[in-house]
Amino acid sequence: MHYGFPIIAGLLIFVVAITAPFAVGKAVTKQYKQPEPKKVVGEKECIESVEFMRTEHMQLLNEWRDWALRDGKRIYTNHAGKQFTISLQNTCMKCHTNKAEFCDKCHNDAGVSPYCWDCHVQPEGLK
Ligand code: HEC
Ligand code: HEC
Ligand code: HEC
Repeated sequence: MHYGFPIIAGLLIFVVAITAPFAVGKAVTKQYKQPEPKKVVGEKECIESVEFMRTEHMQLLNEWRDWALRDGKRIYTNHAGKQFTISLQNTCMKCHTNKAEFCDKCHNDAGVSPYCWDCHVQPEGLK
């Protein structure tokens, strides 16, 4: 009977040891949470699907710049046929007013810092 304590203690240590990695995994995942969509003012949808925007927004912004500056094209028609003015400041940032919380937070996690704001005006924050 007097072996009972060490066995239970051993079992407890075993249980903690096999579940610890899951607890740690959870904490790390939590740290890398996506920015809250509610930072967007008054709109429910981006100009394209969230999946598309998440992976292609850099490319899309490059195209926008080329279209606007080289071709003088100032209207973008999305996959649903809806039209938007081609403008970083007046279109993207009109919805994503909180650049620090939305763009910057994700970029910091990803280790990128777009230089666009050297010239383009950034929004003043949440309205
Ligand atoms: C050296 C200054 C400078 C930098 C840096 C810069 N831009 Fe621009 N950008 C301009 C100017 C000037 C225009 C022309 C504005 C116009 O004619 O409407 C422009 C136009 C654009 C346009 C099309 C029209 C508009 O008003 O948005 C897009 C889109 C754009 N830039 C995206 C970007 C992105 C994305 C970055 C960062 C990767 C960037 N730019 C960095 C100066 C700059
Ligand atoms: C009409 C308002 C509106 C405009 C304009 C707009 N967005 Fe969005 N955007 C949203 C909304 C709303 C979401 C979140 C949708 C959701 O979570 O269901 C979003 C999502 C995104 C995401 C994905 C975020 C994530 O959680 O992965 C990126 C990146 C993004 N937008 C960048 C841009 C860029 C860059 C532009 C300009 C080229 C732009 N948006 C223009 C409203 C807008
Ligand atoms: C969900 C995360 C996320 C959000 C939100 C987000 N970005 Fe990005 N962005 C990225 C990642 C990741 C990259 C780097 C992609 C790569 O290197 O291929 C990037 C790259 C960029 C680039 C190209 C930078 C370069 O040096 O090549 C621009 C421009 C840009 N983002 C603009 C924006 C703007 C403007 C917003 C806010 C309206 C925004 N992003 C919101 C994840 C995000």
